[in-house]
This record gives sequence, C-alpha cells and structure tokens, in this order.
Amino acid sequence: MIRGYIFDLDGVLVDTAKFHYLAWKRLAKEKFGYDFTIEQNEAFKGVNRVACMKILCGLADVQLSPEEFERGMQQKNDWYIEMVRGMTPADALPGAREYVERAKARGMLCAIGSASRNCRLALEKTALAPLFDAVADGTVVTRAKPDPEVFLRAAEMLGLAPAQCVVFEDSQAGLDAARAGGMTSCAIGSPDALHGWDFIAPGLDECPEIS
Ligand code: G6P
Ligand code: MG
Repeated sequence: MIRGYIFDLDGVLVDTAKFHYLAWKRLAKEKFGYDFTIEQNEAFKGVNRVACMKILCGLADVQLSPEEFERGMQQKNDWYIEMVRGMTPADALPGAREYVERAKARGMLCAIGSASRNCRLALEKTALAPLFDAVADGTVVTRAKPDPEVFLRAAEMLGLAPAQCVVFEDSQAGLDAARAGGMTSCAIGSPDALHGWDFIAPGLDECPEIS
C-alpha cells in the first residue's frame, strides 16, 4: 500500500528548471562561447551540479583546471540563486501546492527528493516548505540520479519502505532512480520524452491520486 509521496523539486513543484537552464546557457556563452540549447539541457535535468558542469565542459570539448571548474560552477550558481531569490508563492507550478495538500489530507507522508543544494531556498521562497515531512536534497546525499540514493534517503526519513512510496519526477535520470530504488514512479511531462514510468501526467494539476 502506498503511504508516502516523494517529489522532485525542479520542474515538478516549482519552475526552477528554466532558471538552471538559463544559468548554464549564460555560462556556456560567456565561458566557452557556444549556444547551449534546450535539447542539450534535457541531459542536465535531475543531474547534480558537478555532473552538469562536466557535461558542459564536454560539449565545449574543453578541460578546465580544478580551480577554473570550481569557479565556473560558482558563477552558474550565483546567477541561479539570483533568479530563485526573486521567486514568490505564485511561482509554484500549477496545481502543485493543492496536489500536496490533498495528499496530506488523505494521510500521505510527503517528502522532497532533489539533487539540488538550493532546495530549501526555493521551498522557502514559494512557501511550500511547511508541507513536507522530510527533505532529502543535494546537501545530504552524494550520489547523483539515476542512483536511487536521494529517494531511498527520503523514504527512510519518512520511515517507509521504498515499495510504499511514489516518486514524482520530470527527468529521465530521476525516473530511472525511482525504478532502481524499487518505488512506484509518476512521470511529470510528455510520453515523447520520458519512459519507464508507472503513471504519467503533464503536470500535478492533471495528476491522478495514486494509492
Ligand atoms: C536538480 C535539477 C538539476 C540541477 C540539480 C542541482 O536536480 O533538475 O538541473 O543541476 O538539481 O542543483 P543545484 O541547485 O544544487 O545546482
Ligand atoms: Mg526535476
């Protein structure tokens, strides 16, 4: 029986996915002089900062010193945080707050399972933070999705077994992680872009209750 819901943050509850994209795009242009596309950005979804930076350097075919690599990530993060700081409760994605509220009213335990180290800032800015019983994010795990670590940690924080949890995810890496962790998955997005899910909806505003 399903007792808990684990939500990815970026692209599921809040529209920070576009901020990540814009910040990486700016870095690609300013540091490497190339145009980073929305198609290339698909591989960055759900993937932690270091792994994204490695892909970005690979696309530019450039090898950076550890110091330059660190500086690039820091710059991207500064631009990203600047955009997140401007968020308000109106920036939660359509139906997201209501979906979590309804789940909680039915007795479902709710957690965040996100690779982001900036998770808490976005949750606070959008006033979603009080809805969650646990937050597993990039500050408490080391292995990037598709490794299931972040979701297993979220389930553990909720005191549930993986099989009692549904993971809501907009990235392929995250759906693969949910499956590897033995959880039910609900893809948020289009069936053209995502596979290997148990349920799918274009957004939480059109998502069925899963029990
Ligand atoms: C999420 C996003 C990724 C992002 C990652 C790390 O998983 O989908 O695009 O790279 O978090 O975010 P951070 O805020 O720690 O750089
Ligand atoms: Mg996401």
